Amino acid sequence: MRYRLAVPPDADLLARLDALAELLPLLSGALDIREVFPHLSRVTCRVLPHDALALALLAPDRESLFVHALTTEVDFQRPDRIQVPQEARHLFEVPWDYLLCDDMATDPVMRQIPAVVAGLHGSLRVPLRRNGQVFGGLNFMSRAQGGFTAQDAPVAIRVAAYVALALAHKDLADEAARAAEVRERATALEQRVRSLTDQLSVLGHGSPRRMVGVSAAWRQAVGEAAQVAATDTTVLLTGESGTGKEVLARFIHGASPRAAGPFLAINCAALPESLIESELFGHEKGAFTGATQTRAGLIERAAGGVLLLDEVGELSPGAQAKLLRVLQEREFQRVGASRVLRADVRVIAATHRHLRTMVDRGTFREDLFYRLHIFVIALPPLRERPDDVLPLAEVLLEDIGRQLGRRGAGLSREAAPRLLAYPWPGNVRELRNVLERAAILAGGGLITSEHLALPAPAPPQSSGASDPATAPRRIGLPAGTERRQTLPDVEREMVENALVGARYNKSEAARALGLTRAQFYVRLKRHGLAI
Ligand SMILES: Nc1ncnc2c1ncn2[C@@H]1O[C@H](COP(=O)(O)OP(=O)(O)OP(=O)(O)O)[C@@H](O)[C@H]1O
Ligand SMILES: [Mg+2]
Repeated sequence: MRYRLAVPPDADLLARLDALAELLPLLSGALDIREVFPHLSRVTCRVLPHDALALALLAPDRESLFVHALTTEVDFQRPDRIQVPQEARHLFEVPWDYLLCDDMATDPVMRQIPAVVAGLHGSLRVPLRRNGQVFGGLNFMSRAQGGFTAQDAPVAIRVAAYVALALAHKDLADEAARAAEVRERATALEQRVRSLTDQLSVLGHGSPRRMVGVSAAWRQAVGEAAQVAATDTTVLLTGESGTGKEVLARFIHGASPRAAGPFLAINCAALPESLIESELFGHEKGAFTGATQTRAGLIERAAGGVLLLDEVGELSPGAQAKLLRVLQEREFQRVGASRVLRADVRVIAATHRHLRTMVDRGTFREDLFYRLHIFVIALPPLRERPDDVLPLAEVLLEDIGRQLGRRGAGLSREAAPRLLAYPWPGNVRELRNVLERAAILAGGGLITSEHLALPAPAPPQSSGASDPATAPRRIGLPAGTERRQTLPDVEREMVENALVGARYNKSEAARALGLTRAQFYVRLKRHGLAI
């Protein structure tokens, strides 16, 4: 029996298509199709003679085409971009296989293009498609009118398929390269942060301590700090009290080119206005009562180094104006002096306040705000990074041990979950205080939950125990601060407040309290709040 094909294979067409197989290694080996485009045109010319070949890609607006590659011996100014007339734009949206045109000069859409003006007439256009969508096209052009026939179309379509494939590979490769680059940068940054953290002993209050943090939120903040450290840019650190603003300021100093210079800090909240000025700018002998000696201010003494303006939100209006001048013009004067001095300090400012709100209320100068609000690093509160509690506790206990002349105390098995269940309104500083007290009480032994001054997990609730009218609004106080309430009351209120704060999103509320979802659900049930 003999089989017959419905359409007898056209030996000529098959031979022409076969000849195109030569294009495959050429295209797959090329990084950029533009480099091999003349070669592609030559190979194709053998089976599909043409005098010019253009590869055009659709612009994102889908109203114009970029001429991505063009080969021709006809001399004309190659356009970079061709605006596609309204009446031809449907070709980008509807399915079509090829377009034959005997003379482009008679085609209202094509006759304007420079190729036509330069004497090219015949045209065979085929679309480039990806996922069924047209994203460009090839235009085979000939000097002769009617240079192409429908028999040429399958050949042109095959070339277009190869070109589309090559472009798709290129996009994939570009994307992979971009992703690899991003990964590489992230890894390099992580490594830099790690080596800086290991190298630098972030000194605070005289005792060396390591900077700790494994949570994504903390690592993000430190990553940003490591990046900005290399510059001289003013940094604003924001975050609740005790979140590590000073720790991070010292980290930036240690990781910066000014590391060999001094690190000085001024607490703007702690000094009255008159003293802040002389502290910052220094004073001349006799400038005011008590100024018995000329004294350089912090800005002068921090020359070549970093000055931390802690609690910058507390600066008086007068001091704000003077600080603005330092930041704007890098100039200042000692109190009582006329000589203008140049400031060579990098400023890091820190605040637990929301400066933008202070600007809106008129208590913080807007111009100063913009001088400080350049590179802001927001430090997350400890309750939003429960992963950090135990690693921090370990390092803090070592540190406390050193201070007490003992080995760092360990935590008993039941003490650790208690630390995790507490929301730490005072953040790392409060954690440190609680641990310090516990280490003393433990007398060199293991720290158990009795040593921790934290609210105990509540026993099953006897309902109606608290009177909401008299219940204090403040929550999250360490045990012992509020005696009128029972611990279950405090816990219930914390749970309620967390729910309201998280707009009843339980996962978020649990996170805010540093609890797992399961731990949080237990408390919801205990207090009859499960909805
Ligand atoms: N990531 C950390 N690793 C180690 N210790 C930390 C870390 N964060 C904070 N600490 C410790 O917690 C205490 C408070 O930190 P720091 O003084 O930097 O906080 P702060 O944000 O400046 O607080 P405040 O607004 O109250 O001045 C310090 O004893 C500090 O050493
Ligand atoms: Mg501080």
